[in-house]
Amino acid sequence: MWIEGDVTRVSLAPQTYDVWHDRAVFHFLATADERQAYIEKVLTSVKPGGYVIVATFAEDGPTQCSGLPVRRYSADELHSEFGAPFELLGHEKEKHHTPFGTLQKFVYCYCRKLR
Ligand SMILES: C[S@@+](CC[C@H](N)C(=O)[O-])C[C@H]1O[C@@H](n2cnc3c(N)ncnc32)[C@H](O)[C@@H]1O
Repeated sequence: MWIEGDVTRVSLAPQTYDVWHDRAVFHFLATADERQAYIEKVLTSVKPGGYVIVATFAEDGPTQCSGLPVRRYSADELHSEFGAPFELLGHEKEKHHTPFGTLQKFVYCYCRKLR
């Protein structure tokens, strides 16, 4: 099924998804309220024991994306946004070479949702 919507407001079925994979969306969420709303969506829609992979620009990555300001994270900072219900299984940095010839440093966090 394809669902289109603002991830902080979209209606998602509870405890339905085995895996949540986000690359380069979470880092656009500028306010604590937006980030909390996003995390609530993950908490309610991913099955207990499901997996969550979130990639943002790293702490030494770009400060903007698509002309918009972004927040940058270390692996610990990104994991601490999500908190205790998420067990950090691993993290990795990636250097993404864009088609327009620039370098974007990403951090990926790979977690298991405990409840
Ligand atoms: C840089 S693109 C990343 C696209 C793709 N995930 C990738 O890795 O190439 C950022 C995407 O985040 C989406 N986005 C930003 N804020 C969003 C929100 N609140 N809800 C849903 N999507 C959002 C934008 O529409 C855009 O498609």
